[in-house]
Amino acid sequence: MVWVLLAQALWFMIPAYVANPAAVLTGGGTPMDFGRTASSGARILGDGKTWRGFFGGVGAAVFIGLLQQAAAVATGTEAASFTGTTSMDSFPPALGILLTLAVGSLLGDVLGSFVKRRLGIPRGARARGLDQYDFLLGTFLFLALFQTAWLLEHYLLGDAVFGLALVILITPLLHKGVNVLGYKLGRKDVPW
Ligand code: CTP
Ligand code: MG
Repeated sequence: MVWVLLAQALWFMIPAYVANPAAVLTGGGTPMDFGRTASSGARILGDGKTWRGFFGGVGAAVFIGLLQQAAAVATGTEAASFTGTTSMDSFPPALGILLTLAVGSLLGDVLGSFVKRRLGIPRGARARGLDQYDFLLGTFLFLALFQTAWLLEHYLLGDAVFGLALVILITPLLHKGVNVLGYKLGRKDVPW
């Protein structure tokens, strides 16, 4: 059923989507590059990437993902389970997938900032494309490295590619929505 695949594609991406807004809410303090600059004089990453944001983002994404898994287990809904199974044994492997999604998403965002600084784009300035997709690229890169079979099954093989297409289509819209909300709530200085 393609509808189930599409719903799963979005459901399983929730932790990756949660990670960066959670980093915005928890961020501050020591920057991940410890204030260091590259030979060009530009910061390695800049003050927009902090350790508190990184760990806050990972923690929140994993927490939400465990709630999702608990909902799947409690209701016996295999399609909603990160592992496809609904026994208590599903939690450790689900945690592996969740950590991959969370860390991949946040490091993708870090890589985006690294690229922006190398291009001479200051912290917080807009970089269309990069801002919207860096975290998704990181997520899929990490899945390819650490959860290859899971990535193939849910986003690449057969009709699952429609799930990938949906995620790619919906990501800029979600990104825009979340950033405008963050801006209106005063959590972000700019609406992107
Ligand atoms: N943030 C953080 N740590 C992270 C990611 C985000 O502390 N690992 C916080 C920072 O306060 C950051 C805000 O979330 O300013 C918004 O994140 P983002 O838009 O990714 O950073 P920018 O400030 O726009 O910086 P950049 O140009 O490097 O993307
Ligand atoms: Mg930004």
